[in-house]
Amino acid sequence: MSSLARKHVLVGVTGGIAAYKSAELVRRLVDQEAIVRVVMTRAAREFITPLTLQAVSGHPVRDALLDSQAEAGMGHIELARWADHVIIAPATADFIARLAAGLANDLLTTLCLATEAPLSVAPAMNRVMWDHPATRANIDILSRRNVHILGPDSGLQACGETGEGRMIAPTDIVSCLNETPSTGVLQGVRVVITAGPTWEPLDPVRALTNHSSGKMGYAVASAAIEAGADVILVSGPSFELPPPGATIHSVKTANEMLAKVESQIASANIFIGVAAVSDYRPVEASRKKLKKGQETIRLDLVRNPDILASVAARADGPFTVGFAAETEATLNNAREKLLAKGLDLIVANSVTSDNNPFGSDHNHLLLIDAKSDLDLGRDTKSALAQKLIIEIARHYRAKHSTQDT
Ligand code: C5P
Repeated sequence: MSSLARKHVLVGVTGGIAAYKSAELVRRLVDQEAIVRVVMTRAAREFITPLTLQAVSGHPVRDALLDSQAEAGMGHIELARWADHVIIAPATADFIARLAAGLANDLLTTLCLATEAPLSVAPAMNRVMWDHPATRANIDILSRRNVHILGPDSGLQACGETGEGRMIAPTDIVSCLNETPSTGVLQGVRVVITAGPTWEPLDPVRALTNHSSGKMGYAVASAAIEAGADVILVSGPSFELPPPGATIHSVKTANEMLAKVESQIASANIFIGVAAVSDYRPVEASRKKLKKGQETIRLDLVRNPDILASVAARADGPFTVGFAAETEATLNNAREKLLAKGLDLIVANSVTSDNNPFGSDHNHLLLIDAKSDLDLGRDTKSALAQKLIIEIARHYRAKHSTQDT
């Protein structure tokens, strides 16, 4: 049974050309046995009639805050409480701006302020409007408030231009609203994931390592398994419980991690490098425990191989996704890394006083490709991993469909 069965879903429709897709969205939600009520903005009525949405949802459609007859049935506060999910699709630039500003100047904005239900928006607008700093700033505000931003997609737009700003498909919106939204998106796909720190021995009892707990990589592995993937997890030392269903290979050093990845990569479709691999290792590990004596000692270190870059450089390599922890200029530094290593996607997190992901159950991620970026917001590592897997699957499929045509 769908996790949306018997759930109350409030669909908000705003005035964009993609409003015609809202009828399909309501239909797909009803197919999942959700109970759907629709609220439109006045502008949305120019694009789709309330009658159409009433017919597909099976309930009268509301558009006015001060409608005494409708309020006598289910008042707006009651409607806000009724909802288990609120999804605004399509969400125009204007509606997003009003939401970011916290306005309550019509029924839909009022409901968004008055509800405690999770709120998702599926933006739809011209690509220049989507790229405008004002829209970017508004989206940023909403992400920080834990509003789920679904899409947009790239492609041919109603205005005749091509670019990012198309509303994502109604079926993708339904997947995102499902509690197990990623079900099946990586069915039959083989994914190799690295996780945890590496451990570079100095002597039999000491090593160079870092604070990585493995939590993010293990969460990504779990989410990929939930999405139907065949997962091989190459993990440095971690206290996390291995995700059920993954084939685990435990390694210690970067060289061992590289060798294990190389032995698994030929049959992989996707490689996700989450591990915090030590950039350097001691030139030589002492066979015996180093004795203390001198006040200062020198350590000679040598560069470790870059596992991710070497996978990305393979002629018939898989779709590659890297992670980047940055302390400054997160977006620019991460994109530089994406280009330098020849990756398909990079997932960046800022290591700041507000967000220190090391060892934490929470993180704040930004997904970046060569041209665009998507703020996945701050959330638990497992919720972020689910969102991430949906996005990775979407990019992976898009790359393959263009390669196949
Ligand atoms: O260059 P930087 O270490 O910041 O890049 C981080 C990304 O590269 C992560 O995805 C990490 O798993 C990967 N990496 C690697 N091998 C290294 C260093 C980093 O696979 N030696």
